[in-house]
Amino acid sequence: MRIDILSAVPELLESPMQHSIMKRAQEKGLLEVFVHNIRDYSLSKQKQIDDYQYGGGAGMVMMVEPLARCIEHLQSARTYDEIIYMTPDGKRLDQSEANFLSMKSNLMMICGHYKGIDERIREHFVTKEISIGDYVLSGGELAAAVLVDSIGRLIPGVLNDGTSALFDSFQDNLLAPPIYTRPADYKGWKVPELLLSGNTKLIEEWRHEQSLKRTEDRRPDLLDKD
Ligand code: ADE
Repeated sequence: MRIDILSAVPELLESPMQHSIMKRAQEKGLLEVFVHNIRDYSLSKQKQIDDYQYGGGAGMVMMVEPLARCIEHLQSARTYDEIIYMTPDGKRLDQSEANFLSMKSNLMMICGHYKGIDERIREHFVTKEISIGDYVLSGGELAAAVLVDSIGRLIPGVLNDGTSALFDSFQDNLLAPPIYTRPADYKGWKVPELLLSGNTKLIEEWRHEQSLKRTEDRRPDLLDKD
């Protein structure tokens, strides 16, 4: 999969892409992430990318031209399955959206700054708008990093244990059960006996019960989802 991210602050995306599972996905050749500085596509001498809002009002707006030039440049080389604008007024990201996007080949993500981007970019290029939650970030970069991570780990072969993403919280609309590692007894805080028993069938049943209980307690809304 190839992901192109358009940003006014590309530095914000460096670290999340260079460590841990995202790093491994790229090293294995399963994921390519390219970050493009929108400023490089400005035609003005000062490399301007934002301007005042028509109609007045506080806050700057990201201009149509640098964004359009960057998008068209990328589109001239390949077809994008989705051009995604990261915005708090988009559809809330969930596991089923991450699953859907993980099956695509070419994704573009646009990170907004200031008040947001000129509406004409949304009208003429954007195919999907995604929010990572009901709060406002200073820009779309951290949201894009979250989206790339949620998608990247689902690409077949990225996780060592091919099945482990399947058992994540949310994959079956259930939260994950409690997990433990050594020691079995830390200052009297004991790991549930059953997990040490080696009885895989009973352990599976216990985990499922715990998942259900946790979901009922914390996120009952998930149990009503399709
Ligand atoms: N940009 C600013 N806030 C955002 C959010 N909550 N989700 C996605 N993009 C954003």
